[in-house]
Amino acid sequence: MSSETETVTITDNTTGKQVTLPMYTPTAGPKVIDIGKLYKELGYFTYDPGFMSTASCSSAITFLDGGRGVLQYRGYPIEQLAEQSSYLEVCFLLLNNRLPKKEELDYFINTVTQHTMLHEAMIRFFSGFRRDAHPMAIMVGCVGALAAFYHDHMDIHNEEHRMITAYRLIAKMPTIAAMSYRYANGKPFVYPRNSLSYTENFLYMMFSMPSEEYTPDPLLAKALDLIMILHADHEQNASTSTVRLAGSSDANPFAAVASGIAALWGPAHGGANEAVVRMLIDINESGKPLQTFVDRAKDKNDSFRLMGFGHRVYKNYDPRARLIREICHKLLNDMEASSEQQKLLDTAMALEQVALHDDYFVERNLYPNVDFYSGIIFLAMGIPMNMFTVIFAMARTIGWISQWSEMMSDHEAKIGRPRQLYTGAIDLDYLPIEKR
Ligand code: ACO
Repeated sequence: MSSETETVTITDNTTGKQVTLPMYTPTAGPKVIDIGKLYKELGYFTYDPGFMSTASCSSAITFLDGGRGVLQYRGYPIEQLAEQSSYLEVCFLLLNNRLPKKEELDYFINTVTQHTMLHEAMIRFFSGFRRDAHPMAIMVGCVGALAAFYHDHMDIHNEEHRMITAYRLIAKMPTIAAMSYRYANGKPFVYPRNSLSYTENFLYMMFSMPSEEYTPDPLLAKALDLIMILHADHEQNASTSTVRLAGSSDANPFAAVASGIAALWGPAHGGANEAVVRMLIDINESGKPLQTFVDRAKDKNDSFRLMGFGHRVYKNYDPRARLIREICHKLLNDMEASSEQQKLLDTAMALEQVALHDDYFVERNLYPNVDFYSGIIFLAMGIPMNMFTVIFAMARTIGWISQWSEMMSDHEAKIGRPRQLYTGAIDLDYLPIEKR
């Protein structure tokens, strides 16, 4: 952020009072007016539901430009990272603000790998859930519960402790995710195998059986690694803002990340990839033509929306969707899908075509988003539907923890405490119950 050189003056047309506010120039993106003293000087709040024009913090981690379809982590374009980097290298980059040297990356990978196990008592935690629990519900609970196991390094103002927490979270999320799935499916837990890569290990913990040999498919492991890179961080989205808000009260990082997982769960955010496949199933089971659903999505009197289309920030195209679309089409060519999967994949591809050519979607820039394709890829990989958002959470953990850590080292950070435009009743007199 540049030192303040420009200002904006706001005049209150009723009283004639004026306030001059500083305006900052970021390294990229729109200028930002600092309204901090507006209330003190004029007695007004600002009103911005959904944070359409509000920068909630300053950050040097991720830059995105929705108009131009740009996404960069620590200044590196997502396209270059997707092609040349790996998920764990991206984790190092997000946490440390630079790319690692070879020996630093080896050390980082080795340290993450040393933390993949869960405390044995933590494993018993899973059996407290009902068998039909959604794995996201299990994950929210288990990640919050990590705080009960790792008091040893929980001084949130200590940089080294924050880094150890980051290692723990990156390493344990796949183990928690896979165990949530195994528990809900009545399958034995599989402990991590540290000779495997990060994503191979996840596939191994998800799909292997103690009774059989299992070798993770390198094609799937590579595709998953790429998906993880694309989902690693995304600036101040709903779940990241939730992590920051929860963490701003000096809550412990496991609690803050658990709150981020809860926010991610919703179908308007990370839950969209699961919602995409549920929608495809509904379309197929209805026996109605695809156009019926497209028409419903366009009907203002119908709340139905095409899941996996549109984005709050990317109003031109989503650069992640462009990359993931390529992987999706390649994977579908290379893999053998079951006939049931194939029917859903065919519907998805038909929907992609309709939405790319229908005026309603074209005029509103409602392109298929990253969740549309990740849902389809996970479907083709044989990952159960209720695990889709769990994998998103696994990938986004590095973003959450990097943003939380940045906030903790920011001396200007304060507890988040928004104000409101009050529209309720005022000054009522309490009536005893018999007089109401
Ligand atoms: N299907 C049909 N119409 C849509 C859709 C959709 N998926 N998305 C937006 N529209 C329409 C709206 O009705 C509105 O039309 P109007 O201008 O005629 O009133 C216009 O497009 C703009 O939509 P908004 O709701 O104002 O856009 P907003 O930025 O608030 O919402 C959102 C973005 C939440 C992603 C929305 O597009 C949506 O609900 N999409 C489906 C859910 C989804 O895929 N979410 C994943 C987001 S990506 C992520 O979290 C990683």
